[in-house]
Amino acid sequence: MKIDVLLGLQWGDEGKGKIVDVLSPKYDVVARFQGGPNAGHTIEFDGKKFVLHTIPSGVFNPGCLNLIGNGVIIDPLILQSEIKKLNHSGIDITKNLFISRKAHLILPTHRLVDAAQEAAKGAEKIGSTLKGIGPTYTDKSARNGIRIGDSCLDDFQKRYQTQRERHLKLVSSLGFDYTDYAIDGRDFAAYETEWFEALEGIKKLQLVDSEYFINEQLVAGKRILAEGAQGTLLDVDFGSYPFVTSSNTTAAGVCSGLGVAPGAIGKVYGIFKAYCTRVGSGPFTTELFDQEGELMRKQGNEFGSTTGRPRRCGWLDLPALRYAVMLNGVSELIMMKADVMDTFKTIKVATAYRYKGEEITHLPFDASTQNLEPVFHELKGWNTSIEQIRAEEDMPAALIDYISFIEDYVQVPVRIVSTGPDRIQLINRSV
Ligand code: GDP
Ligand code: IMO
Ligand code: MG
Repeated sequence: MKIDVLLGLQWGDEGKGKIVDVLSPKYDVVARFQGGPNAGHTIEFDGKKFVLHTIPSGVFNPGCLNLIGNGVIIDPLILQSEIKKLNHSGIDITKNLFISRKAHLILPTHRLVDAAQEAAKGAEKIGSTLKGIGPTYTDKSARNGIRIGDSCLDDFQKRYQTQRERHLKLVSSLGFDYTDYAIDGRDFAAYETEWFEALEGIKKLQLVDSEYFINEQLVAGKRILAEGAQGTLLDVDFGSYPFVTSSNTTAAGVCSGLGVAPGAIGKVYGIFKAYCTRVGSGPFTTELFDQEGELMRKQGNEFGSTTGRPRRCGWLDLPALRYAVMLNGVSELIMMKADVMDTFKTIKVATAYRYKGEEITHLPFDASTQNLEPVFHELKGWNTSIEQIRAEEDMPAALIDYISFIEDYVQVPVRIVSTGPDRIQLINRSV
């Protein structure tokens, strides 16, 4: 069997959680391969809404095993609170959840370093989610990190203290007074105490050597779906660096984040919104600052699932989408939030950029909002509510034209169109 991949093609929040949940009945295992609690994946059904940060989005399907892979970084306190919230809704995931021993721990002091580094950057800040992502991946690469599996070893306390001291020195060298800083509403000492308590709980879950786990599942003929977090334009190598996250969000990250060989990768589902959004800083060529952008934010409820921050909104950027399709080898597209465009009389899409006096269709090395001006193509809006549409043949002609225009540009078919947040709000296309 092959391992299929579902990942975001824009700056995150494309709707990955919803579609992984929808596809999960077709899979035996859903596995997260990168990122951490900077992710916020929303799933809605039967009038209930769940936001997952670390736990894979297959958990609502009782027949599915869920793996947090080695490439993921874990804050035990956040993971524990996710598990508790699910428990309160009557969902016990402990039997179906597996955690890689090699997944790195986000320490309480990583949260402080993240905050201190962002504060020190001032106006140049990344707009990080402040979950400690950058500092944890930095320590992983610098070979200072501590993995979940290490927390079961005798020298864990010693290693923890060494890291803690090093981080506190760094924080103080940046002039950051952490005694004034609240981590998720708690002062540092309280957070650290609860963090250790949560870690003890997490250690009782099913910790596995995940590279063996996943390859054994493959050999046994199990169907596996790898669930991406963030999006391609936030990839540490190919995103709008330095305004990116600290992991490989692209398909390449699946191999290193789970321990599977490139030949094991099957389909790659690429998911994108019918427009664009971005949270945090960094270039966004097609960003809107007018009423149309405001309308997208309102209609799409574009406020961060993890931080609650308003998301920046703008038109679909086709050169960027084609770039993402190329990097990931996308075989099928999924277009989300088409319903958000229901009231737009006309819809624009960027088909090229004006850059240093030339018209180009690739993303140049120094892509920035200052030196890239979008060239737009305008299409007719469908101007009717599509929220209740479930059948392909009921799609308005203008929506079909919009999809065809995108397909012609990126040369990959759009297989699913999402028309609302609920699990059932979907149109499957036969093309
Ligand atoms: P993820 O991080 O990619 O899983 O996406 P998020 O959960 O952060 O953000 C997507 C948001 O859009 C969530 O609030 C979803 O409930 C919502 N959503 C998903 N699909 C649709 C859709 O087709 N239409 C609308 N209106 N909302 C959607
Ligand atoms: P999901 O999985 C949207 C953004 C942050 C910031 C940058 C770096 O829900 O799509 P970090 O905390 O990773 O150091 O922040 O990346 N970012 C996301 N934006 N969706 C996400 O995840 C994101 N995870 C990180 O806003 O600009
Ligand atoms: Mg999200």
